[in-house]
Amino acid sequence: MSAEKDQEAYRFFGRRKGHALSARREALVRDVLPGLRVTPPKQGLLDPRTLFDAPMARVHLEIGFGGGEHLAAQAKGNPEDGFIGCEVFLNGVASLVSQVADQEIGNVRIRDEDARPLLAAMAPASVDRIYVLFPDPWPKYRHRDRRMIQTESLDRFADMLKDGGELRVASDQMFYIAWTLERVIGRPDFEWLAERPGDWREPPADWVRTRYERKALAKGDHPAYLRFRRRPRDDGGQSRS
Ligand SMILES: C[S@@+](CC[C@H](N)C(=O)[O-])C[C@H]1O[C@@H](n2cnc3c(N)ncnc32)[C@H](O)[C@@H]1O
Repeated sequence: MSAEKDQEAYRFFGRRKGHALSARREALVRDVLPGLRVTPPKQGLLDPRTLFDAPMARVHLEIGFGGGEHLAAQAKGNPEDGFIGCEVFLNGVASLVSQVADQEIGNVRIRDEDARPLLAAMAPASVDRIYVLFPDPWPKYRHRDRRMIQTESLDRFADMLKDGGELRVASDQMFYIAWTLERVIGRPDFEWLAERPGDWREPPADWVRTRYERKALAKGDHPAYLRFRRRPRDDGGQSRS
């Protein structure tokens, strides 16, 4: 990547690379990551089920997995499901590859570039669950277009989720939670799964704490956890909405 492009990506995503990787992680990125890497097709759509060696019961997609602790634990706990993680931060990618290698996790695939071209290529009704956990908040109003939750990304999520599939969004920034609810409430394709007042203060039963979340909790912050269900389509979920 040219210095100019790199600078552009830096502005958009924050850091792409932090401290130097250990020799072991360098080797894992060189030797193991290529076998896990997901690349959007140049033409046509991607059926994520084809990425895995065996048929997978369900497909999960995590966008911005950070250090990959959540993805690795979910993948290990659900070996019958396939997990795709997207992350641009190389040190985070190396951390996930290391967990996958150490724990011999066979059901993880990784997009180590901008998630959005992959999101654009996902086949309709092909994903069971999407996680957007503690996304970069971009608190300044002039940067609001950089937030991962946008009407356009929600359109993409609604398209790729199966009927009854779930979108999970968590954040310790209440303005981001409000931003998300403002964009989801009233949509015909998503239903907020808040069962009782205040249940968004508690993580779902199968939750795995992320690194960012643990840091927020240690500071005394109170994250919020939103779950949205993809409402059934009228046409059986076969067409792009
Ligand atoms: C605040 S961190 C949270 C990481 C992790 N989910 C956690 O809770 O610990 C947000 C992450 O999203 C990643 N990210 C932001 N935009 C992205 C994009 N378009 N594609 C892939 N990753 C992205 C960033 O690199 C960063 O690691």
